[in-house]
Amino acid sequence: MARLKGKEGLICQITDTIDDEVLAAAPDLKVVSNIAVGYNNIDVTAARRRNIVVTNTPDVLTETTADFAWALLMAAARRVVEADAYTRSGQWRRWQWDLLWGLDVYGKTLGVLGFGRIGRAVARRALGFNMRVLYHDTVRADTAVERELRATHVGKETLLAESDFVTLHTLLTPETRHLIDERALRLMKKSAILVNAARGPIVDEAALVRALTEKWIAGAGLDVFEEEPRVHPGLLALTQHVVLAPHLASASFDTRIAMATLAVKNCLAVLEGKPPLTPVA
Ligand code: GLV
Repeated sequence: MARLKGKEGLICQITDTIDDEVLAAAPDLKVVSNIAVGYNNIDVTAARRRNIVVTNTPDVLTETTADFAWALLMAAARRVVEADAYTRSGQWRRWQWDLLWGLDVYGKTLGVLGFGRIGRAVARRALGFNMRVLYHDTVRADTAVERELRATHVGKETLLAESDFVTLHTLLTPETRHLIDERALRLMKKSAILVNAARGPIVDEAALVRALTEKWIAGAGLDVFEEEPRVHPGLLALTQHVVLAPHLASASFDTRIAMATLAVKNCLAVLEGKPPLTPVA
């Protein structure tokens, strides 16, 4: 906050909480440029009140993030991390018929909660796996998009009840906090896997631990957590069909550079009196 004094531009990341107190410490600030597509770390209302522009980095990370959601889905379904640990452990003596059986992905039903850029990119990949795709969003996609992605808009409860894989791609807002709570988890199939590469607090983590421990659902692939970098000890204790990652979904060489570049361009545009490339809505 001391270093912000006198500055007109701030480039920040999701670990930086930019609340009204921080903004008040920077009376000359014109722009807060987040190096992320999600911007729940910034009090956008307070910024707006102070005539400060807030920008994020959409688009450049869409495909990389969708790839990673799929990596989690595949790894959790086919037990890739458990297989790796087993192979390294020296326990492998011979090929074994009943070793590490997993869940099929192709031909199954994918439920996409949040059908924005990333949700759609995740759905597009499901075409190659010949999956049935259900989605839920407050805004329904155009018919042309639904047709192209072979995606059907359904209510949240139908999506939860019918999907073999439920993947989350909403922003974190007061409305989406604990969108996946005990009730939602109990609606899911016992064989279902939950994937979260969006924001941790969209899931009630304590309820998820109960769901996995008591086998209401089969597994989870998680890149985000409620109180990062703390991971619920109940999750750390679970390995079968459970894959955990330290908030990496956009972390490819090319994408991280593209995100940083876009964040700098957004900041400079505002400082030069031009419209930012990607202001938040
Ligand atoms: C990362 O979490 C992002 O929102 O880009």
